[in-house]
Parts: sequence; C-alpha cells; structure tokens
Amino acid sequence: MYDLHIKSLLDIELEQKYRTIYFDPPFNSNRNYVMGENNSTGFTDKWTDEAYEDFITKCINKLYELLEKDGTLFFHISALGMYIPEKVVRAKFKYIEPIFWKKARSKNNVKNKLGTTIDIIWKCSKIAKPKFNIVYQPKDPKYLKTGFTNKDTRGHYSLGHLITEPTKVGYMYEFMGYNPTTGWRIKETELTKLFEDDRIHFPLKKGAKLYKKIYLHENPGKPCTDLWDDIHSISQGAEGRRYPTAKPIKLLERIIQISSDPGDWVLDPMCGSGTTAGACESLGRNCTLIDVNPEVVEIVKSRFT
Ligand SMILES: C[S@@+](CC[C@H](N)C(=O)[O-])C[C@H]1O[C@@H](n2cnc3c(N)ncnc32)[C@H](O)[C@@H]1O
Repeated sequence: MYDLHIKSLLDIELEQKYRTIYFDPPFNSNRNYVMGENNSTGFTDKWTDEAYEDFITKCINKLYELLEKDGTLFFHISALGMYIPEKVVRAKFKYIEPIFWKKARSKNNVKNKLGTTIDIIWKCSKIAKPKFNIVYQPKDPKYLKTGFTNKDTRGHYSLGHLITEPTKVGYMYEFMGYNPTTGWRIKETELTKLFEDDRIHFPLKKGAKLYKKIYLHENPGKPCTDLWDDIHSISQGAEGRRYPTAKPIKLLERIIQISSDPGDWVLDPMCGSGTTAGACESLGRNCTLIDVNPEVVEIVKSRFT
C-alpha cells in the first residue's frame, strides 16, 4: 500500500513515524534534468551553496523527527556533491555509516576529468543498534571457482578461520592437542559441535591450523558490505527509465530489506518515479511518497498498472 503527496517536504504535515526513510534529493549539480529533447519531464537542480545548505538542513531536521527511534535514514548523494550534505547530516545524526554504491563499471565519454562511478549513501541512525537485517551479496565468480576446492562426502567447501588474528585475543582453551597462542574465534562448546557434525577441516601437515568447512551448497553469498558493486544504474541495466534520475529497484530493495520488516512503513520524501513504492510492493512494506513535481503522479501510477 502506498500514498502519494504532491507537495514540498518542507510544507507537509505527517502524523506517523517511519522505520526506513530513503532521501534522494537534488544533488546541487548545477543543471536541469529532463528526459530528452522532446520530453521535458524532470526538475531543476540549480542553487547557490548557501541556499542548498539551508534546504538540506531543513529537510534533515524534518526527516529526523519523522524517523522511528530504531529506524534508519538513507541519504543518497553524488560523490562530487557530498561536502555540504555531509556537514549537515553529521551535525544531526550520531551514527553514520557510508555505503559506496558503484553504479557503473566505467565511463568512456570523459575527456578532462576522472569518470565518476560512485554515489555515496549515508546510513544514519539515532541509536547504535537500529533495526538491522543481514542481507547477502553474490560472491565473486572468480572466488566461487577457486575458493571451494576442498571436497568431502557433503560437497565442495572453502576454509573459514577458527583461530583469532594476531592483533586480537580469542577464547583460550586446548582442543584435541591444538592450542593456538592467540586463541580461538569461537567458544569451546561451539567448536565441539562443529567437530561432532564433521565440519572441521584437519590439516594434513602436522601443527598446521584447523579451519571450519564452509560448504558451497549452504552458502547464501557474502554478508552485505559497505561496497555495493553488484547493482547497476538503470542506464546499464534492463529496467526502463521514465524519470531522469530514477534509481534501480534492486538498490531500493536492498535498502528496505536491511532496515525494515514486512508491514513496516517506509518514507520517500523526494520520490521522483516512485522506485521506493515498487520495492515496497515486492517486499510487503507500506510507503508514503512525496514529491513537489506533479509530473511524477502518472509515472508512479504506471508502476502498478
Ligand atoms: C533525485 S530525484 C529522485 C529520484 C527518485 N529516487 C527515483 O528513483 O526516481 C529528486 C526529486 O526531488 C524532488 N524535489 C525537489 N525538491 C523537493 C521538495 N522540496 N519536496 C519534495 N520533493 C522535492 C524533485 O522533483 C525530484 O523528483
């Protein structure tokens, strides 16, 4: 379920609070965004730095109030235009993790500067441990080929560390004659359980390390990191674009999955083409959309027809 308001974020009154807010404002890029020569759908992004800072400050102050205590605000900005937004967001939120979205593999049309392939998405929260779900990114295909070369009756497996790295101190105990000087990464009861379940790789060489078996067929991928290089921008993917700065639905699905549960409410206060609504629909979340541009109404609706 979604509701759409054609209004400025700064003028709207909302009653409820939100588990997830995805804030993708104009980037202060000093240009006008249109779909093409014969289609002027889009918006203007021309500001003085002072006016832009004032606008972003007012938006962040308002969104902070609309965020649930254990909620997360994702603030999407271009790497080139991150200075003013970073100043504003760091003044308001205590807990901020940057996510680096590598939206393109390369840029072949640049002449006098480096090709820009990165957007920054700040993951901001009011508390140290907001609502968080682990999601997985696909493993590197090269690693899949070379990493799972060991085999037993269960299948192919790679080796996971059991011994604590030298700069840390682990659980100190002896296990079947192995007594690492930096200790173990897990408790003795957990290690014993792995052994009973035949999930420990014993080295052929005497005195070498023990490892945990990580089976290929049980592996859902790698737990999501702060580098998102597995989601391509709309211009490089199969998804059609109906709004100049539309973001890919996979990006919004990841953001929503990480930070909310089915049935939760998500807010997109500058929704453009309504990518957030499409992602909420597929994941069973509810959402409120706002945009000042009336052109987005038909574009958002078209996602549901
Ligand atoms: C970068 S686009 C958002 C694109 C969107 N994430 C998508 O996937 O299509 C920024 C949007 O902010 C809207 N906007 C600008 N100022 C606004 C304001 N004061 N209140 C609400 N929306 C605003 C613009 O009309 C534009 O649609």
